[in-house]
Amino acid sequence: MNKHMEGKVIVITGASSGMGEAAAKHLSQLGVAVVLGTRRTDRIEKLANEIQESGGKALTIATDVTQRDQVKKLVDSAC
Ligand SMILES: NC(=O)c1ccc[n+]([C@@H]2O[C@H](COP(=O)([O-])OP(=O)(O)OC[C@H]3O[C@@H](n4cnc5c(N)ncnc54)[C@H](OP(=O)(O)O)[C@@H]3O)[C@@H](O)[C@H]2O)c1
Repeated sequence: MNKHMEGKVIVITGASSGMGEAAAKHLSQLGVAVVLGTRRTDRIEKLANEIQESGGKALTIATDVTQRDQVKKLVDSAC
């Protein structure tokens, strides 16, 4: 946990692999609630389960960032 990060909510697109996945894991370990949005929902659901089993908070929203309505839903869900 990190007192400056704990309790914050951060939206991460591209969390299904690579840097986004690594950022989600790292931030959740600092106490951040992460909201994960990508097209491959199977991968972010698995990641969210791992984060929750470790005591973190994670929410998944199927998101294609080229679709404005899906990005709005992602942000609204995070809020
Ligand atoms: N890795 C590096 O060292 C490095 C260094 C400098 C720059 N970069 C750049 O940083 C970016 C990320 O790199 P990475 O290695 O993490 O790549 P990656 O493993 O291929 O991850 C790309 C992520 O973007 C998501 N994504 C792609 N199109 C999307 C869309 N339309 N809507 C929502 N999500 C979308 C993918 O999720 P879904 O397919 O599930 O939607 C995936 O989670 C790339 O542009 C890369 O060129 C990487």
